Amino acid sequence: MRELKKLWNEKYKGVEHTLQQMQNVKTAVTAFNTNIDAVLKISGKRLAELAHQCSLDWKQLNHIEKNSIEEIPDVVKGAFRCFSKGIAEEWLISDLRVFDWLMQNIGYDRLQMGGQGGIVANALAVCGVQKVLNHCNSLPEKQAKLFLPLDNLLSFDEEGNLAPAWKINRSKDIPLMHWIIEFDKGDVFELEDYKISCPKANRFIATYDPMNSNLVRDEHFVDYMDRAKTDVVILSGYHALTAEKNGVFLVENSLPVIKKWQQNGALLHLEIASTQDKIVRKTIVDKVATLADSIGLNERETIDVLEVIGEESLAEICESKINSRNLFEAIMKIKEKVKTKRIQMHMFGLYVTVQDKDFKVSAQRNLEGMCLAATVAASKAACGHINCRENLLWAKNMDVSEIGLRELRLLSEYIQNEKLLTDGIAEYNGYDVIAVPTILVEKPKTLVGMGDTISSISLVGAL
Ligand code: GLC
Repeated sequence: MRELKKLWNEKYKGVEHTLQQMQNVKTAVTAFNTNIDAVLKISGKRLAELAHQCSLDWKQLNHIEKNSIEEIPDVVKGAFRCFSKGIAEEWLISDLRVFDWLMQNIGYDRLQMGGQGGIVANALAVCGVQKVLNHCNSLPEKQAKLFLPLDNLLSFDEEGNLAPAWKINRSKDIPLMHWIIEFDKGDVFELEDYKISCPKANRFIATYDPMNSNLVRDEHFVDYMDRAKTDVVILSGYHALTAEKNGVFLVENSLPVIKKWQQNGALLHLEIASTQDKIVRKTIVDKVATLADSIGLNERETIDVLEVIGEESLAEICESKINSRNLFEAIMKIKEKVKTKRIQMHMFGLYVTVQDKDFKVSAQRNLEGMCLAATVAASKAACGHINCRENLLWAKNMDVSEIGLRELRLLSEYIQNEKLLTDGIAEYNGYDVIAVPTILVEKPKTLVGMGDTISSISLVGAL
């Protein structure tokens, strides 16, 4: 193990150079979802108090009929579910009164940039991409303040002029707030005679967002993009749609728009994200993922996709044992069925990319992008943010994780190719497989937005 770790630490030495090269990327666009995240850390004790306050007994707490929030106790149920399983989920709030209750009773520790679009825009801009254009369907001052004060990070003002996003104030827009309820590994929740310990630091998101939940578009942005030349688009924001509220139509309606971007030369990457509504999830997979040049997902989202492509039994296998071998089988299946040219899955300790041999970005460049992404992600976890360039490579001399190396070994044994373990690149079934053990931070200060950061920097860092 020691030798292997040394070998991989060596491969990470190139991250500084890879970061430098990001300055050669001319234009990156992020769309559609940008919002405000109200982040707070909740303890098991406080969660139990809230259950009590909402008169939820153990049985009711565990009785979940819908992964959405219609009344206040649903917030507590969702948070408890994620706490007890150590998982990440996002549920939509349908009632403004729940939003008000959260504001008054739960509050938040801090506001930070939210939504894949917003988070990725900040990350790519601080990494030095020459021009980053972000789509905002709402950009009041409160939202604008969460953009980094960088001149290469742009959006549209009320009149349709391009301007640095942090300087814009579309004063009539409403702020779109999502509650990010985070909890720590090992924290304990007690109710009646039950006592459970949180198995993994994670978060529950409670979202009230009438704009992003309807995929509302800024027409200035859409008009501009109709003619613009873009190197890469990081696409997201479909996960908040529901079939009940026209979700299928909204997804389909966006297809001509994004096709145009691709025709104009953009490489299109779709971030799958946690999509609760299965009908919408299926539409995203069938219509958008099949169109995209590249897709990104985490272990949970991988299982979610299996469920809507007729691979329920493989989904169950993955669910019962989350490891690189099962998840690799899963992404191979997804690649086969969805026929996307590139797929990248990130799990605890390991990132895996499978791509066509003739993909625009070489396997070696992918590897470099993934090492950079792992370093930046670890820096973000350790520092709490990557708002300044100095933080980006904070984790650069840390060891790669043993968990990651073990998962990598398991995978290389599964595909019977030792090269994957030592080089991180191997061929399998005619595809390039690239796998990178990551750097893990013992006590992460933040986790939200990590997947978005990983996927986007892996790809854009490889261009
Ligand atoms: C989802 C949430 C958003 C959060 C993001 C992080 O888009 O709606 O609040 O910032 O995920 O990945």
